[in-house]
Amino acid sequence: MLKNKDLISINDTTKEELRYILDTIKKIEEMDCSNLCKGKILGTLFFEPSTRTRLSFESAMKRLGGSVIGFSGDGSTSRKKGESLYDTIKTVEGYCDIIAMRHPVDGSARLAANSVIIPIINGGDGANQHPTQTLLDLHTIRKSHGQVEGLTIAMVGDLKYGRTVHSLAIAMSLFNATIYFVAPQQLQMPKDILEVLDQRGIKYYMTESIMDVMDKTDILYMTRIQKERFPDPVEYEKMKNAYILKKEMLTNAKSGLKVMHPLPRVNEISEDVDDAEHAHYFQQAHYGIPTRMAIIALLLGVLE
Ligand code: CP
Repeated sequence: MLKNKDLISINDTTKEELRYILDTIKKIEEMDCSNLCKGKILGTLFFEPSTRTRLSFESAMKRLGGSVIGFSGDGSTSRKKGESLYDTIKTVEGYCDIIAMRHPVDGSARLAANSVIIPIINGGDGANQHPTQTLLDLHTIRKSHGQVEGLTIAMVGDLKYGRTVHSLAIAMSLFNATIYFVAPQQLQMPKDILEVLDQRGIKYYMTESIMDVMDKTDILYMTRIQKERFPDPVEYEKMKNAYILKKEMLTNAKSGLKVMHPLPRVNEISEDVDDAEHAHYFQQAHYGIPTRMAIIALLLGVLE
């Protein structure tokens, strides 16, 4: 179903495809796949900083028996001599079988996918999309709640610049979610995402207060205020501590509520939350391995 395809945006993905990937992640967790990608090479082209996405992609490919080439930051590449993204991608296409890339410009992953034949996986393009994060988020939700269908999720923080919540809102709309968007007005969810939710008849609400949603939501999805995307540093300074989740705030949380966060966190979840029964963000990050193993295997067509 996904052999030789790219993974660029959750907007391109059907519910059937999402279910198929989630089922494959489960299968990967239960099988020996140490030779599935023997002889295959993953290129990781990270033009923007990353800990989880790049390292979990690299670990995933190694666990599949394949190998990895790539770079983290373009300071040591010929981009510094003025080479275009198009030329870089066209060149690296000849060195590997599949590419995972992260780039600061919205739409860059699409440009890369349109330039080459091998599969391109978007590891985050600007403030636009982060589809593999969404797949690991869905896997985490399915593990913690038994299913993804019909849940209530509150997305908190920087909904304007946060690419993870753009992808996740679109994905959750395929599973009949009720969504609370918790953000200062200036950082609320962009109109193009809300239009998709409207077309799909999804119920969503906006508020500025976390406490408004605490007893209503199954998932409290915290996000970092995206300092690097603010055109005006003064505006960032005003917003940077808009939300800080503390353990005491979870006293009246809905039964079974899980706190998720794509990480890295800065101030938005106090460390005293880490040992609360609700805390789920480090487990969530660890699910990046089976998730990215499944994505690589499916796009390379070594697993059907
Ligand atoms: N969640 C996420 O994308 O983390 P990194 O920026 O560390 O890859």
